[in-house]
Amino acid sequence: MKIIKTKKKFLTNIYINNFFNLKNIIKNKNKFLILDYNIYLLFFKKIKKELKKFNFLIIPFGENFKNINTLKIIWKYMIKKKINKNYLTIIIGGGVLGDILGFVCSSYFRGIKYCLLPTTLLSQIDSSIGGKNAINFFSKNTIGNISNPNFIFINFNIIFYMKKKEFFDGYSEIVKYSIINNKKFFFFIYKKNNLQKIITRSCYIKCKIISQDYYENNYRTILNLGHTYAHCIENNKIIKYSHGKSVTIGIVFFFFFSSYFYKININILKKIFFLFLKFKF
Ligand SMILES: NC(=O)c1ccc[n+]([C@@H]2O[C@H](COP(=O)([O-])OP(=O)(O)OC[C@H]3O[C@@H](n4cnc5c(N)ncnc54)[C@H](O)[C@@H]3O)[C@@H](O)[C@H]2O)c1
Repeated sequence: MKIIKTKKKFLTNIYINNFFNLKNIIKNKNKFLILDYNIYLLFFKKIKKELKKFNFLIIPFGENFKNINTLKIIWKYMIKKKINKNYLTIIIGGGVLGDILGFVCSSYFRGIKYCLLPTTLLSQIDSSIGGKNAINFFSKNTIGNISNPNFIFINFNIIFYMKKKEFFDGYSEIVKYSIINNKKFFFFIYKKNNLQKIITRSCYIKCKIISQDYYENNYRTILNLGHTYAHCIENNKIIKYSHGKSVTIGIVFFFFFSSYFYKININILKKIFFLFLKFKF
């Protein structure tokens, strides 16, 4: 049970395996629940009747829905159900849902309160933190903003319901953190498999970087390692690789092209590739 308390005003406290606070926060509040379709099937279908007491919406999963049409559907629904500033919107899903709903909530009535319960490895260690929200419009993540949720609750246990392939997507961002920021972390994930520690440490690293450059004027761009290539791959409608897989390829490309201009230690490169293979990319 851990709480990452961020000192900077613009960052959100992250509650890791700490649901006592969640109960307190949502008590006596009007709630609007938004669920990823897979999360609905896994955990909420059986309690459909209970769910009907809430205002709730189920969003189909996948990158294909990260577009302006989904925004319109959600905004329309919120207006119809008279969701207003007195409501707390609770979002339970992966990075796609977080990106869409972060934008929806931060623009609806010029911003309403919302909390994120990220359910994929990638969303727990990366996309839920730092306030970046976006949809794809002609290209990847073209329209969006930077606006934080009011709370983030991370539950380690939920990610074990993920498909293996999607689970390993999150590792690409973990390997990225270890390359850009932290030698000790690099050798930790090289040698050990303690997932809880890896997730917590990754959250710390992201918070640390963001707290130094929230609006991405300079230092925060370090988090985009391999992402320019990755977004090109993701824009390809025929190949259709996931974000995680594209980032892995992007990082490999980055080192390959950099080696033309800079001397890169071959042993370190071997270790980085080993890490990607270790996590069965
Ligand atoms: N905002 C940011 O800073 C940021 C950072 C990195 C990535 N992203 C974005 O995140 C997106 C990728 O996120 P993602 O990898 O979480 O994908 P995702 O949200 O599409 O989830 C992957 C799949 O897992 C399913 N799922 C979610 N939780 C599950 C669970 N607990 N058990 C079983 N299945 C589950 C979903 O239904 C979906 O089919 C991309 O669009 C990327 O651009 C944003």
